[in-house]
Parts: sequence; structure tokens; C-alpha cells
Amino acid sequence: MKNTSVETARFHSLSELNEKCAELIIACADEAIDKRGGFSLVLSGGTTPQSLYTLLATPMIRRRLNWQKIHFFWGDERCVPADHPASNFKMADDALLSKISVPQTQIHRMKGELEPRAGALDYEKIIKDTALLCNHPGTAENLPTFDLVLLGLGNDGHTASLFPGSEALDEKERLVCAVPAPAAEPAVPRLTLTLPVLNNARNVWFIAAGSHKGAIAEAIWSQNNSQGYPAAQIRPHKNLRWFVTL
Ligand code: 6PG
Repeated sequence: MKNTSVETARFHSLSELNEKCAELIIACADEAIDKRGGFSLVLSGGTTPQSLYTLLATPMIRRRLNWQKIHFFWGDERCVPADHPASNFKMADDALLSKISVPQTQIHRMKGELEPRAGALDYEKIIKDTALLCNHPGTAENLPTFDLVLLGLGNDGHTASLFPGSEALDEKERLVCAVPAPAAEPAVPRLTLTLPVLNNARNVWFIAAGSHKGAIAEAIWSQNNSQGYPAAQIRPHKNLRWFVTL
């Protein structure tokens, strides 16, 4: 990691982690909106971030975010319909999006209902067509730049839907890949952002709860990636933060 700043923070509880994360999201959004007129936020799937999204929707917090200037994206999605219990979109919609006034045109979900390869191509076009992500001074011309990417960590060290041994880990050109059903539940095909676009983000934050994930995080921090954890390949050019519970 060239000049990446890596910050790690340990919390006694997920609610304590969420409170800190919410404050930093507010600060990150304010800066992006001030500098570029908008904030692009990539949501993580899974269960860990659900309570953070619920916190962001509470009156105390939601009134501190300018939702009219925020664009929502996903780091990965299960290839299921948007109303399916396993949908990462549905989780975020139930916890947050349905409770705030954000323009529907600013909610850019991955279409899990499409044939996976078509879904990957569709999302790649959505990203490329979002002006907020492209052509800012100092960013790579051919790569979109997200302001903030939230990522989870699997018990096998996967992140987004980049699983150990996946061919998607070797993708150097595509922004979005379709990946076959993993061993991890739910065992359905997935769509995932790829390492080039994840590592081009201004900020990448991992949120991981539990001692087993904490141990994986420690191994990654120590750069002892003998296990070949995919999450260790997240090396953004700028800011990387880890929020873990003890
Ligand atoms: C997904 C996620 C995945 C998740 C980890 C952790 O679609 O499942 O994007 O990468 O973040 O598997 O999931 P939990 O938070 O449920 O442990």
C-alpha cells in the first residue's frame, strides 16, 4: 500500500462501533458534498451493518445527513429478486432507505433478478453513467472513484463477494463481476465490485464484529496473509479503516 493511511479501531460493542462509524460517515459526506457536490456511498451486505443502517435512519442522525446529495451503491448483491430475504438491497431498504427522503434516482441497486452476467454488465454501465463518480481531478481517468466503500468480512476472509480462490480476484479490467454460488450461505450466484474499483475509492472501511473476524483482521494488519484472505487485497490508494469489536 503506497501512501495509504490505515487506521484500526476496536470497540467493546457493535453499538459503540456504529456510533463512531455514523459520526465519521457524516463527516465524510459533508466533505464530499462540500468539495464535489455529492457523496457516493457503497453499502456492504450481510448482517453486521444492518444496525448501522438502522442508526443512520434514527431522527438524531438522519437529520445531520443531506440525503438529497447522497448516491447509494452496493459492493455486492446476491442474485435474487430485490424483495427476497437474502437481498442486500432489501436489507438496506428495510433498515434505512425506506425511512429517509432520498431521490429514487440516487439509489443504484445491483439487479440481482437478472441473469448474473447481464446483471454485472448492467451495473458496470450504471457506475460508468454516474457523473459523480467520474473524471474528478487527481483520479484515474478510466476508473470511477467512490467516496466511501463499506465492507464486511466473512469468516473465511472474503469481502464483498470476493471469495478465497475466486477468479474475480484476478480481474483487472471489469468493474463488476458475476461469481458462482459460494460455499458461504446464501449459496446463490453473486454480483461483486472488483478490486480495481474498490481500491480506487477515496475511503474504504471494514466493519467486522466477533473475535474470529478480529483475529482475521489482526492477521491482515500484520500483513501475515499466509491464509490468502481476499480482504487483504483491499489496499485503497488513500484511506483504509478497520472498525472491529473486541
Ligand atoms: C454479503 C456480503 C459479505 C458480508 C460478509 C460478512 O453479501 O454477504 O457482502 O461480504 O459482508 O459475508 O457477513 P455478516 O456481516 O453477515 O457476517
